[in-house]
Amino acid sequence: MDKKDENGNHSVSFSEDGASAGLFARRDFVKYLLAGSALSIAAIEKLNAGVYQAITSLNQKYVEDISPDGTYWDEIRKMFLFENKLIMMNNGTLGPMPKPVFNTLMRYFRIQATNPYDLYNFVPGGKEGIRTKLAAFVGASPDEVSFSSNTTEGLNLVANGLDLKEGDEVIVSNLEHPGAINPWNLKAKRTGVKIVQVPFSTPAQSVEQIVNPFAAAVTPRTKIIAVGHTVFITGQITPLKELSKMAHEKGVLVMGDSAHGIGMLSLDMHAMGVDFFASSPYKWLGAPAGIGLFYVRKEAQAKLWPTIVSSGWEVDNARKYDPQGQRADAMVYALGEAIDFANRIGKERIERRIKALAAYFKQGLAKIPGVTINTPTDPYLSAGLTAFLVDGVDSQKIVDYVFEKYNLVVRTMGGFGAGKPALRVSTPIYISTREIDMLLEGVATLVRHKV
Ligand SMILES: Cc1ncc(COP(=O)(O)O)c(C=O)c1O
Repeated sequence: MDKKDENGNHSVSFSEDGASAGLFARRDFVKYLLAGSALSIAAIEKLNAGVYQAITSLNQKYVEDISPDGTYWDEIRKMFLFENKLIMMNNGTLGPMPKPVFNTLMRYFRIQATNPYDLYNFVPGGKEGIRTKLAAFVGASPDEVSFSSNTTEGLNLVANGLDLKEGDEVIVSNLEHPGAINPWNLKAKRTGVKIVQVPFSTPAQSVEQIVNPFAAAVTPRTKIIAVGHTVFITGQITPLKELSKMAHEKGVLVMGDSAHGIGMLSLDMHAMGVDFFASSPYKWLGAPAGIGLFYVRKEAQAKLWPTIVSSGWEVDNARKYDPQGQRADAMVYALGEAIDFANRIGKERIERRIKALAAYFKQGLAKIPGVTINTPTDPYLSAGLTAFLVDGVDSQKIVDYVFEKYNLVVRTMGGFGAGKPALRVSTPIYISTREIDMLLEGVATLVRHKV
């Protein structure tokens, strides 16, 4: 735990095998950071500060986005690490890191490489500050967020940790990711829980069209509705606020699988009202793979047992769901840096930008003959993922063509009960409309040649 000493300096108590072993002044650690292998560490600090100063200046100059592109976003793009000329439009699988995030990641791995003693004694002390930052970023209290390893882990923790009996019902959609549905399949095998599937309309036209079929499927045995928030096949954003309101009125819990949500949407857990929420910040937020958000609403924590425990599992907050044992704290610090980067731009501005690009892309697609868009057009029900099919053109051909011609990365997405593989395109903040035009041109070319 991070504590203050009598001089107001933070100090860190460390523990090994759960035993408190002493107190160290944090300023000694800071001294270490600024000395020894310090040249590069100081240089990293300076580099990150330079990036943040540049964003602040841009914010002052460009208070609002007057057009989808322009200097503001061109400059932001330069703050990402890309291999030369790569146009990355598949954040849905894995996104790139902004430079400050990579710098921070390297900084903490460097401490492990050069001084493991400091890594286990001092570095963990800063984690609570990052938990607080993460909680604020998603509209939650620090007692409600846990650092999972990824979305799959969070989803498994819920399926495994709820006391459900034979005959209890779990409602899912027809478009769940394997990491979301298989924890319930396992639970069903172990306990006899019944899985009830409710189909999503593709594309959904309204909130009611999504929520009403779930309301109709609730029975006295229903315990939880566990659905995709950012539906990976269609790009639908499921209206969890309305779904939670309906479910809570019936005494049913709600879990959102929002693998893509953090960094794509301006999230507010309390406004949304969900009980459980899992997200992967290495898709849209620029964090490294291996660190995730797992949210458990205060009121739901008494119902969810932790699955993997060491000391501290009986605490009355979401820290009991944190992964246990040694792990790479560099990931946690890099997540904190990714949140700082996003906060500098502003999470609402990020969501607006992503949705403006997606709308631009959809408008362009709608002009190409034979295109069917599987993603809702309503910006409340969609965001940065757009999925579409082209009549008579194999989706994989488009993927290969635009990669070869423009070095532009998209992917196919299908199977999983969703029919023919569609093309799925991500429109993150660093993409320009010029690059979307390239993709549209690529699709139109293949349509003309009916490949
Ligand atoms: C909707 C959805 N759920 C869960 C996952 C699994 O995420 P992770 O591999 O980060 O655990 C993904 C991955 O893309 C996803 O799209």
